[in-house]
Amino acid sequence: MSLPESSTTILGIETSCDETSAAVVLDGRDVRSSAVSSQVALHARYGGVVPEIAARAHIEQVVPIIEEALARAGVSYDDIDAIAVTDGPGLVGSLLIGVTAAKTLALALEKPLVAVDHIQAHCTSAALSASAPPWPAIALVVSGGHTSLYLVRDLLDSELLGQTIDDAAGEAFDKVAAMLDLGYPGGPAIDRVAANGNPRAVRFPRALLDKPNLDFSFSGLKTAVLYHVFGAGKKYGSVAHLSDGQVSDVAASFQAALVEPLVRKTIRAATEQNVANVVVGGGVAANSALRSSLKQACGDAGLSLHLTPSEYCTDNAAMVAALGFHLLRAGCIADLTLEPRAGLLRPKRRKSRTQTKWGA
Ligand code: KG4
Ligand code: ZN
Repeated sequence: MSLPESSTTILGIETSCDETSAAVVLDGRDVRSSAVSSQVALHARYGGVVPEIAARAHIEQVVPIIEEALARAGVSYDDIDAIAVTDGPGLVGSLLIGVTAAKTLALALEKPLVAVDHIQAHCTSAALSASAPPWPAIALVVSGGHTSLYLVRDLLDSELLGQTIDDAAGEAFDKVAAMLDLGYPGGPAIDRVAANGNPRAVRFPRALLDKPNLDFSFSGLKTAVLYHVFGAGKKYGSVAHLSDGQVSDVAASFQAALVEPLVRKTIRAATEQNVANVVVGGGVAANSALRSSLKQACGDAGLSLHLTPSEYCTDNAAMVAALGFHLLRAGCIADLTLEPRAGLLRPKRRKSRTQTKWGA
C-alpha cells in the first residue's frame, strides 16, 4: 500500500488495561490498520482484570502487535513519522509496557514521541466517523473506568462538566452481569440478553437525574439490582431461581435505568452550552440501547450525534494515533523520560484548559 506524499503517518500504541493494540493512522483520520490482542480469555475466570496477568500478556504481545499493525498497513518503521502512546490513566504495570515500547522505538528510529491521554483518545475516536471535525461538541465518555461529560472546544481544549461520583457505567455493567451469572465482560452480555427483556419490567432508580448538576451515580442502581435479585441486605448468590425471561427483564430494566441519566444529561449539557454536536466514546458506547436512545434524543433536540464506530469503542490504538497526530501538529512532543501516569485517577473537575492532557 503506498502512502500519500504529504501525509503524516502515526504509529499508535495502547496498553492501558487489558487490550494490547497498535495502529497506523494517517493525518489523524485515515486508519490504515488497527490490531488488537484482547486478554478477555485470560481474565474471564477471575471475573475482572488481574493487573499482573495483564502486564505479563502485554510484554508477550506488544512487539507482535506492532509488527502486525505495520504489516497490515503495508508500511515499514521508516515510513512512520511519530510514535503515539497512551501514558495514562490506566493500570501502571500495563501502561509501562506500551510506554517502554514506544520510548524504545522513538530512540532507535529517532522519531518524535507523543504522549496521549486515554480518555481524550476515546473522544477522538468519535471523530473517526465524522465527515468533518465535530468540534465544539459535548463528549460523553463511558468506559469501564470513566463516565464523564466534557465540553470539547477542539481536541486540545476541553472542560470537564460532570462525571460519576462513584462507579463507572462499564463497572456497573460488569458487576450486574456477574450478579446475573452472565459472564465477563459484562457489558456485551447484558446488551445481548436485554434484547429479549422488557425494560419496564422493574423500575430501578435513576440517581441524580433531577439534580441540576451533570454528575452521575451508579452504585445505588447496582445495589438495587442486587436486592431485587437476591433480597434486601443479601450478597451474591445463585440466580437459579430466575427464569431466562426474568434475567432478561432485569438486564433490560437495569440497562434502561443506566442509559436514561446518560442520555438526559448529555442533552442537557449540549443545551446549556449551546453546542450542536454530541460525540460518544468508550467501551459502553458500543451498547445498543445507549446508541438508539441517543439517536432518538439527539434527533428530537436537533443535535448532530457522532457515535464512535463500534470497532473503536473499546480500547484501541487507532484513537491513540489519531489524537497523537493533532498533538504532534501542536508541538506536544514528549521526551524519553516519559513515565506512565499511574492509577485510575479521575480527571480533576472544572475549567481546566489544557494543552497536552485533559484535566491535568
Ligand atoms: O473503553 P474500554 O474498553 O476500557 C476502559 O477504558 O475502561 O471499556 C470497557 C468496558 C467494560 O466495562 C465493558 O463491559 C463495557 O466497556 N462494554 C459494554 C459493551 N461493550 C463493552 N457495556 C455495555 N454494552 C456493550 N455492548
Ligand atoms: Zn478505555
